[in-house]
Amino acid sequence: MADFLANYSIQKWLESCPQGYLEDTVYGRGADEREPEDLLKNDSYREQQIRTTVQLIAGERCALAASSGLVNAAPDQASKTFLATQTLDEGRHVEIFTQRLYDLGINPDDLESTIKTYINPHLGKFAEVLLEKVDKKDFVAGVVGQNIVLEGMAFSVFEMLHAGASETNPKFAHTLSGTIADERRHVGFGENRIGELIRRYPERKPDVQRMQRDMTKHMLATFHEAFANGPTASDTMSPGRKSNATYQGLKLADASNEEMEGALSATVLGEFKTRLGRIGLEYQAPV
Ligand SMILES: [Fe+2]
Ligand SMILES: [Fe+2]
Repeated sequence: MADFLANYSIQKWLESCPQGYLEDTVYGRGADEREPEDLLKNDSYREQQIRTTVQLIAGERCALAASSGLVNAAPDQASKTFLATQTLDEGRHVEIFTQRLYDLGINPDDLESTIKTYINPHLGKFAEVLLEKVDKKDFVAGVVGQNIVLEGMAFSVFEMLHAGASETNPKFAHTLSGTIADERRHVGFGENRIGELIRRYPERKPDVQRMQRDMTKHMLATFHEAFANGPTASDTMSPGRKSNATYQGLKLADASNEEMEGALSATVLGEFKTRLGRIGLEYQAPV
């Protein structure tokens, strides 16, 4: 417990995050980093980036609602303290991705209507399953849903986007790398805190596993919709620039949408199986 207290304290968070990898950043990027000119001048490329960023904002708004709600559901002070830091991380993620929409030319007055236009409907259902548990102050299910399922998904998506942006959009890649570091901390907390509770309350397993199965179903539908109706990975990279970026062994410039969907889904499901196994839960495949 002493280690847990030190690793997930506000003091540790201050040192590693605001005074560490976020020091000197402005909305998560370097003060003089900008979106690339060729992106801003190309309407269809810009729209794809707006669509992607809307999904990130929606996911982060869900994480903000869940982490803040779980502060009052947590049974111990150390978890409340960590979730307070996570609440600020998630609020920051909402803010930096919202700022990215403005950088992509969205007028702040049109923020909510833009989100409504572009949001993937399956992502809303995914969020509902989690927030229902949080509303009931169900700490065990809430932490598994947020810190294992939602954040396991988020950081795999961020890593895929980071691979695509690393050579062509250093500003977005920089924003993503700080977010990935935060998400890793959140996932680590979920694993460390919840394993013990699952062992103590084994009767909670079936309900938590059902939630995981439902969230996984909506997540896979979200990916399918995004890749089936979206542009190919090569279209979403800066036009006119050659990139050798790869993701899970796929060369992004040549990969089809089906291949990308397959690679992302396999990566996330692999993460789920490993992390759920570590806390004593068996992964449930959606029906
Ligand atoms: Fe987040
Ligand atoms: Fe997070």
